[in-house]
Amino acid sequence: MLAHSAGEMAGVSKDQHPWWETGVVYQVYPRSFQDSDGDGVGDLAGLERRLDYIAELGVDAIWLSPVFPSPMVDFGYDIADYCGIDPLFGTMEDFDRLIAAAHARGLKLLLDFVPNHSSDQHPWFLESRSSRDNPKRDWYIWRDARIGPDGERLPPNNWVSDFGGSAWEWDEATGQYYLHAMLPQQPDLNWRNAELKAAMLDVLRFWFDRGVDGFRIDVLWHIVKAEGLPDNPPNPHWQPGVNERDRLLQLHSTDQPEAHAISAEIRALADSYGDRLLVGEIVLPNDRLARWHGTAEAPQVHLPFNFCLLENSWNAETVGRLIDEYETSLPAWGWPNWVLGSHDAPRIAARIGEAQARVAMMLLLTLRGTPTLYQGDELAIGTVPIPADKVRDPRELRQPGIGLGRDPSRTPMPWDNSLNAGFTTGEPWLPLNPNWKSRNVAAQNGDPGSMLELTRALLRLRRAEAALGRGEYRSLQCREALLAYERCTADSRLVVALNFGEEATEMPAQAAGGERLLSTLPGSSEQLRGNEGVIWQLRG
Ligand code: NOJ
Ligand code: MG
Repeated sequence: MLAHSAGEMAGVSKDQHPWWETGVVYQVYPRSFQDSDGDGVGDLAGLERRLDYIAELGVDAIWLSPVFPSPMVDFGYDIADYCGIDPLFGTMEDFDRLIAAAHARGLKLLLDFVPNHSSDQHPWFLESRSSRDNPKRDWYIWRDARIGPDGERLPPNNWVSDFGGSAWEWDEATGQYYLHAMLPQQPDLNWRNAELKAAMLDVLRFWFDRGVDGFRIDVLWHIVKAEGLPDNPPNPHWQPGVNERDRLLQLHSTDQPEAHAISAEIRALADSYGDRLLVGEIVLPNDRLARWHGTAEAPQVHLPFNFCLLENSWNAETVGRLIDEYETSLPAWGWPNWVLGSHDAPRIAARIGEAQARVAMMLLLTLRGTPTLYQGDELAIGTVPIPADKVRDPRELRQPGIGLGRDPSRTPMPWDNSLNAGFTTGEPWLPLNPNWKSRNVAAQNGDPGSMLELTRALLRLRRAEAALGRGEYRSLQCREALLAYERCTADSRLVVALNFGEEATEMPAQAAGGERLLSTLPGSSEQLRGNEGVIWQLRG
């Protein structure tokens, strides 16, 4: 069978496409969205209060970063119980209320599935480390030490943790090392163990049965390691002063065939529940990323996250090339997706400035494929200085001073100009953006020149114009500061032109005679102004 879209494969008829193809995902980082109990940390009841804001923004789904019981060493990505809610965030009743309230507003809810590692406080790991012959010993990855030339104890191989330092932690009590691709408090689970795998698939069933609409899957390409755990080769391009992780190429520790096979199994499980979505966090070059779509017969995740706009320089030529390369890399059954921000990446407005962040928002919401919008980017939150004594990110604390800090992207949502921007009545767990008194939801609400209203207008247009949903993407021009492309269906053609520079430039010829639908700037001009993005519609 030659399938043309994931929808057809999931049993959806030809002209009915799954919701997520035209949907927009909004990422909520729960610690920083809305606090309801004055402890300075956002929670589920707070998020529920703000659901109307999210629905009115015009997005389709919420991806909620982890809310499960956790010692919070990596702020929830260290999970101590996959099937519970951390009291910091609320209760299971709060969760059930939240999902019902989201669904009542037509919003889907995706949770974060963290399959590569648990917390070292998870009962499974406590058992696993209790003795070498514990039945759960093999649920994690334990190995003997290597003995060095002078009889010294060495880790089993040379692997480096993504957070820096060896990926192995010595356990005195049982005399072996355990593997942790992330922090020592995040031991890697052993997906080669059938019982562990079954237990993790049960976790997915647990949440699917509770009505969740899908998952974002954390570091999916890490979940299986090469048999025998061979040393990773050195990275010839590595320079000291960047993340120590990149000293080696993660050849044997990531992107293994067995991880693809498991991904296909997870997909089959999701499909058995109907219209659910799997988004995989996978950081790989296009050719290898595309393989995570699986095959037409055995699809893997619906959307392997596409981070290319985050990792490259911001100019028309580079961005145009990245779009073409990504589009070309997709298999026939693959649906594209785009990311401009997250709780791990620098804020887009901090990286390229507010004027270009508006252009970037137009790009994100007019490209072909499912966009993920990160909370606060709709306000163009920019640089947020974090004083040294306020740094919370464990990645920054492990390798200080080389720009790995993620706290500036995780600061609380500024809602209004009341105490702590309406985020909390207590002490916010991270500082607010310094300009929160003017850069907040209430201040931008109804202001036609604001980023918030631009975002809403783009989301409205995207919903109204089929060409922006499922229309084809065609690159038109990519010269100097100008990037122009078309989105078209059989009966509608939209032209998008983005000026990446500060100088005015000629409109693309293809827009001539078109109706101007939307600009990132107020007013209008014969030319494309500096930092301006414009959308036209051409008829006939
Ligand atoms: C990716 C998550 O997005 C990040 O926040 C986390 O630290 C690592 N995975 C480890 O789970
Ligand atoms: Mg709270």
